[in-house]
Amino acid sequence: MKIAIGADHAGYQLKESLKRLLDELGLLYEDFGTTNGQSVDYPDFAQAVATGVATGNFDRGILVCGTGVGMSIAANRHAAVRAVVCSEPLSARMARQHNDANVLCIGARVVGLGTAIDILDAFLGASFEGGRHAARVAKINAG
Ligand code: RB5
Repeated sequence: MKIAIGADHAGYQLKESLKRLLDELGLLYEDFGTTNGQSVDYPDFAQAVATGVATGNFDRGILVCGTGVGMSIAANRHAAVRAVVCSEPLSARMARQHNDANVLCIGARVVGLGTAIDILDAFLGASFEGGRHAARVAKINAG
């Protein structure tokens, strides 16, 4: 699995911590920035990660900003992207199992590191269940 990860200034520190988890899990990822805590615009990083997922170059995207909200709105402008903002692991797992979500957004000002790790673990560890959910996701994709 190849993962694209990005953050704005508000999510920078958490992104760095989540990268350490990806390293521990031995997962391949590309970091699309930002590279420090200086103020930047979250849509720039959402576009980069969402484009990577929409083009098929990456299997999953991870986006971190203050709340995760702006990142999810921006990422979802791409038709092939199903981005979710999650503040607890159950939603992250269900977003994979039922919604085939391919981009996870986390709010660094909303959740602590331990919860963020649990959310990411749940998202990466779960698979789309297909079946009745496939028809529903097809309706989302049809617009
Ligand atoms: C930046 O201050 C903040 O607006 C951004 O990180 C994010 O929370 C937007 O949704």
